[in-house]
Amino acid sequence: MAQLIDGKAIAAQVRAEVKAEVAAWVAAGHRAPHLAVILVGDNPASASYVRGKTQAAAEVGIASETLHFDTHLTEAELLAEIERLNADESVDGILVQLPLPAHINPSRILHAIRPEKDVDGFHPVNAGRLLLGEPGFVPATPAGILELLRRSGIETAGKHAVVVGRSNIVGRPLAVLLLQRGIDATVTVCHSRTSNLAALTQQADILIAAIGQPRYITADMVRDGAVVIDVGINRVEDPAHPRGYRLVGDVDFEAVSQKAGWITPVPGGVGPMTIALLLRNTLYAAQQRYTYTYKARPL
Ligand SMILES: NC(=O)c1ccc[n+]([C@@H]2O[C@H](COP(=O)([O-])OP(=O)(O)OC[C@H]3O[C@@H](n4cnc5c(N)ncnc54)[C@H](OP(=O)(O)O)[C@@H]3O)[C@@H](O)[C@H]2O)c1
Repeated sequence: MAQLIDGKAIAAQVRAEVKAEVAAWVAAGHRAPHLAVILVGDNPASASYVRGKTQAAAEVGIASETLHFDTHLTEAELLAEIERLNADESVDGILVQLPLPAHINPSRILHAIRPEKDVDGFHPVNAGRLLLGEPGFVPATPAGILELLRRSGIETAGKHAVVVGRSNIVGRPLAVLLLQRGIDATVTVCHSRTSNLAALTQQADILIAAIGQPRYITADMVRDGAVVIDVGINRVEDPAHPRGYRLVGDVDFEAVSQKAGWITPVPGGVGPMTIALLLRNTLYAAQQRYTYTYKARPL
């Protein structure tokens, strides 16, 4: 039976550390770090993610504001808003909640954010820094996964990590992070065109599923004793549940947990880490703006 990696508890630890560091920063005479969140339209899931982020920010002493725009906001208007926030010295971090309405090009928007305020780590400068192994903002979900491994005492050096999924938000930056010096995994990246996926996942010491397909990774695809990190958040119908659905991961948790050595649950695994690492990035944004240099990440 696998040991559970308790993302909720580890995220609480990271948030407590951020809170203590924010308090020390303010006690040293600086203003509180300030996060500006942009929400366009009225997608209920996006609104709920934004509330989660701003509430978590308040709990650690980070000031935040949500700029909520009507779905008809034009791309030019949104770019003007980003320019305003870029120039505003009281704003340390800018986050644009995705997805944006179809008439707005998300790349054009994300590329307009000043890299030193890009706490989501999606700007090409930060993506490039990650690729080169230089300090910069690392997207919160991959950074959160690394923290889960590190704080659970799981060795990565020399291990074979198999990442299933190559999105710009999770799979791709995670694969690059796992390759970093100091983390030192040997990395295989799989995607929807991979032939014989199971033959590769069966070789994984560390298997990370970021696919978006409910319970896709089954027990026969997992090696005995492997570390299994489930990034997926999928809604499946469940008439017994008050909301009519429940959340499951990309991994068949019941069966895989009988075989794996370590496993993250859904919910309560990677999800809470994403918010905790966003808060840490916002703190770093405030600190590095003060010193005008990129601060090396402790990874
Ligand atoms: N816990 C969190 O905080 C958090 C954060 C972000 C995302 N998520 C969740 O993580 C999941 C992935 O998110 P994402 O944004 O990375 O999704 P995405 O952009 O849809 O990317 C999915 C990736 O999985 C690959 N894939 C899809 N079906 C596959 C299959 N049958 N076999 C192998 N590879 C397959 C796709 O391959 P191709 O590239 O070939 O299409 C793609 O690279 C979603 O459930 C999402 O909700 C969770």
